[in-house]
Amino acid sequence: MPDKVKLGFIGSGGIVRSHLEQGLKDFKDVDFVAWCDLNEATAAARKEQVGGRGEIYTDAEEMLDKARPDAVFIMLPPFAHGKAEDLVVARKLPFFIEKPVAIDLETARRTAKGVTKHKLITSVGYMTRYRASVQRVLEILKKQKPVYLHGGWVGGGPQVYEGIWRWWVQKDKSGGQFLEQTTHTTDLARYLFGDVTHVYAVAVRDRKKRPSFYTIEDASMVQLTFANGAAGNLVSSCSTSQGGGVRLEVQATDMRAMFTGWEQSVEIQMPDGERITIPGEDNIFAKEDRAFVDSVKAGKNKGILATYEEDGLKATEIAVAANRSMETRQVIELKKL
Ligand SMILES: NC(=O)c1ccc[n+]([C@@H]2O[C@H](COP(=O)([O-])OP(=O)(O)OC[C@H]3O[C@@H](n4cnc5c(N)ncnc54)[C@H](O)[C@@H]3O)[C@@H](O)[C@H]2O)c1
Repeated sequence: MPDKVKLGFIGSGGIVRSHLEQGLKDFKDVDFVAWCDLNEATAAARKEQVGGRGEIYTDAEEMLDKARPDAVFIMLPPFAHGKAEDLVVARKLPFFIEKPVAIDLETARRTAKGVTKHKLITSVGYMTRYRASVQRVLEILKKQKPVYLHGGWVGGGPQVYEGIWRWWVQKDKSGGQFLEQTTHTTDLARYLFGDVTHVYAVAVRDRKKRPSFYTIEDASMVQLTFANGAAGNLVSSCSTSQGGGVRLEVQATDMRAMFTGWEQSVEIQMPDGERITIPGEDNIFAKEDRAFVDSVKAGKNKGILATYEEDGLKATEIAVAANRSMETRQVIELKKL
């Protein structure tokens, strides 16, 4: 691998802007060779953001064949996944992909199979795993038994249906709030407590008057059973104007950890009155991007904490199971999915 890793982007919207802003644009060991987006102006804005580096494309296949990146960032909304991954896997390229990796199991399983077959380096944008707060709680949990966790993403929801909020409120495009947004907490729950075996979910609908294209649930509660016997409950709400925010309470036999905010600051309570407080970082995307670029350069995992074939796939399975449970009112056993 040459000193500089040539990066190409498929999907160049808001989340790419954030990755660049938080540090990626200043990485000395990358070359921005291509920006692909269905909307040419969006790709042009990213090119502008890095001082005019890279070519603009509106077709992913053309971009991959002409720009020949060493690694690809797949930064698409849930409904747009599938074709881009097929193209990237066929070319055996390492890729970073934003969460959630897919809206359906078929896409996630097909991609995971290709990744495993070709032993590709992958990273999924579950940036929460890289936080000092999360690492500390993970460390403490190694010596304890997990008991339960409870949290989620609670707010009033979008007020205007423009930009991302247009696709976000459509169930067949975003997969719903649990699949699209609370997936960060689902992944955190798996990271801390391990694999999930059963999912049961209840949807709340018709709380507010909505336009006809608004098809996601107003809220949901998702009950998780972990393989180690612990339990979890995750709430998502976009219909409660007085908020609640992002939070996760983690209870183990001798520890209570309370994560709050998007930045996952934590307050940890231990026996004998011991208290540990760790604030969340502002520029967490830079940390996960560093791990991905280092891994591409090394040709092996150098610090990636969430991979497609394991973590992206499993979070998708949990979310798809929750969506199915909301419809069928049945408990879904993941191994029967
Ligand atoms: N990690 C995080 O905290 C975080 C935060 C925000 C968004 N995200 C995730 O990032 C993903 C993208 O979100 P966003 O906010 O950038 O959305 P966005 O709507 O701003 O950008 C998505 C872009 O993809 C383009 N696109 C759609 N289909 C395409 C295709 N087939 N080929 C090329 N371009 C295509 C659209 O034109 C759009 O510009 C979502 O899955 C979202 O959940 C993650």
